[in-house]
Amino acid sequence: MLQNEVLQLRCLVTGGAGFIGSHLVDALVSRGDEVTVIDNLSSGRIEYIREHIASGKVKFIQGDLLNREDAAKAVDGMEAVFHLAANPDIRHGTANPDVDLRQGVVATHNLLEAMRQGNVKKIVFASSSVVYGEAKKIPTPEDYGPLMPISLYGAAKLGAEGFITAYCGSYGLQAWIYRFANVVGPRGTHGVIVDFINKLKKNSGELEILGNGKQTKSYLSVEDTVGGMLHGFNHANEQVNIFNLGTNDWINVTRIAEIVVEELGLRDVKFRYTGGDRGWSGDVPRMLLSTEKIGSLGWKPLHRSEDAVRRAVKAVAGELWGGG
Ligand SMILES: NC(=O)c1ccc[n+]([C@@H]2O[C@H](COP(=O)([O-])OP(=O)(O)OC[C@H]3O[C@@H](n4cnc5c(N)ncnc54)[C@H](O)[C@@H]3O)[C@@H](O)[C@H]2O)c1
Repeated sequence: MLQNEVLQLRCLVTGGAGFIGSHLVDALVSRGDEVTVIDNLSSGRIEYIREHIASGKVKFIQGDLLNREDAAKAVDGMEAVFHLAANPDIRHGTANPDVDLRQGVVATHNLLEAMRQGNVKKIVFASSSVVYGEAKKIPTPEDYGPLMPISLYGAAKLGAEGFITAYCGSYGLQAWIYRFANVVGPRGTHGVIVDFINKLKKNSGELEILGNGKQTKSYLSVEDTVGGMLHGFNHANEQVNIFNLGTNDWINVTRIAEIVVEELGLRDVKFRYTGGDRGWSGDVPRMLLSTEKIGSLGWKPLHRSEDAVRRAVKAVAGELWGGG
């Protein structure tokens, strides 16, 4: 049996009612784990995990990690914590400069402090490619440096990573830190695909594209994201395990727009670019992660970027477009 592949792991998923969190909860429940979710439902949706709650397979705590009592209650008796709660939207963080500090750093510190006091040792963290900033080396490996994020969201992810490794060094925690590429799939609540579909729902004749459309990045299906997280958790056993999770290819924003238009069955949609090499300030125009490290443990994604995007568009269009 592999490390951590013990049946009935008692685990907490923070942000478990969110996009990636709810898919992770599906996977943990199907492994037979005992799952508790804490979520403040700020961007998550209870219906994503309602079935598991109704069947008694998931215990749900509506709570906030900014509240230390909620954090302590949530980690009580856990063997592992999957930490996904955060502000997920880079632009929201730029417009509200203390959001990422609070939701990314303070909330993570509260969680770590609750874990220290409750003697909970294992933490799995959803970090991001944006910790690298505008990396000069592409594909970017995990040991690239110096790490110079250009968004407040990226700064908060890097700060949270720092607190996590410090709690490992100072209090004996063990961590699995994953730097995700752009994650796409069913139940997506934000990001380029949701943005395009919502815009086309309002006006199917014209699509506003932020930037010049040439921003080129790697897109990972949510299915591969969850698979990669659990693969690393089962196969890596250093005190601090840091992995990139992405695909080995990338696509640009104009191509994503074309796929969205094709999948919605629209014709003659005019693309209107807002211009500039990036979508918003703090946007990294080119991102491709080296996946050699997690690949050496036998993991590879099932879907390439274009395939992941197309599948996500089909699913999200059914949810948003079909929903009227
Ligand atoms: N989606 C991506 O492309 C991507 C890429 C890199 C990293 N990530 C990270 O993965 C994680 C999950 O992101 P997602 O895309 O599923 O977004 P999401 O918004 O769907 O998930 C975040 C969840 O956390 C909850 N939450 C937020 N603040 C909270 C708090 N203080 N206390 C309790 N719950 C709180 C929200 O209600 C939501 O359910 C986040 O940490 C995000 O930064 C996502």
